[in-house]
Amino acid sequence: MSLSPEAGPETAPARATGRTSVPPNAFYVPSPVVLLSTEDENGEVDVSAMSAVGVVCLDPAVLAVGIKPRRQTYKNIRRTGSFVVNLPLQDGLEAADYTGTRPWRKEPDKLRNAGLEVARLPESGLPYLPSCPIAMACTLVGNLGRHELRLDVPPSHQVVLGRMTECSIDDEWLGEDEVRLEDMPVLLYLNRVYAARGDVLGVQRFTDDPAKREAKMREYRSLGGRQE
Ligand SMILES: Cc1cc2nc3c(=O)[nH]c(=O)nc-3n(C[C@H](O)[C@H](O)[C@H](O)COP(=O)(O)O)c2cc1C
Repeated sequence: MSLSPEAGPETAPARATGRTSVPPNAFYVPSPVVLLSTEDENGEVDVSAMSAVGVVCLDPAVLAVGIKPRRQTYKNIRRTGSFVVNLPLQDGLEAADYTGTRPWRKEPDKLRNAGLEVARLPESGLPYLPSCPIAMACTLVGNLGRHELRLDVPPSHQVVLGRMTECSIDDEWLGEDEVRLEDMPVLLYLNRVYAARGDVLGVQRFTDDPAKREAKMREYRSLGGRQE
């Protein structure tokens, strides 16, 4: 689409004006693919792909994940009160898909079969995936179900809220006082279809003063920066 001022009504492409109502479907919202690593009370580690994931608070950082209650992942989170959100890259697509299609109760070896290695985070000792550039350990701070969501039917997923308490970045993705997110080939999920992220299209405007904008961006991207 041209944004040039010359592009008047006579040159603008014809656009359909009709709209159609369709049934609600949460999958119309694009989401990232993440891998949740959890453990049971015996330290047995499970990893599962999740896409019903989002940020619900910036400071403190709180993430929401929608998880079906029958998942081993959910049971582990309920028992231990913690989980780790690992961000896989596009070259980890096959392993991610593998973990997301094998329940632990049917395939307890699914981690090894997916070719994934597990290590422990330095502070919490929680299990994470070194193949993922970002691992975010979370403490369970909320669990919303039928009652809390005021639903008249049991929801398919519990809304698990986790406060981020520890974050580990692969040094390969560290720039000068920032994580190089723009270059990171993360995986997106669009209703059962995996997609690559596209090019950077622009930077949030904040202000028309370029110097102030640069200062704001530095503040936001700083590894110790406050997010509001
Ligand atoms: C890309 C992808 C995204 C998924 N997202 C979710 C999700 O958000 N919530 C969920 O409960 N299951 C999700 N699943 C399904 C679980 O990962 C899958 O059922 C897994 O086998 C559960 O294993 P577990 O029982 O060992 O936890 C997803 C699967 C894939 C492949």
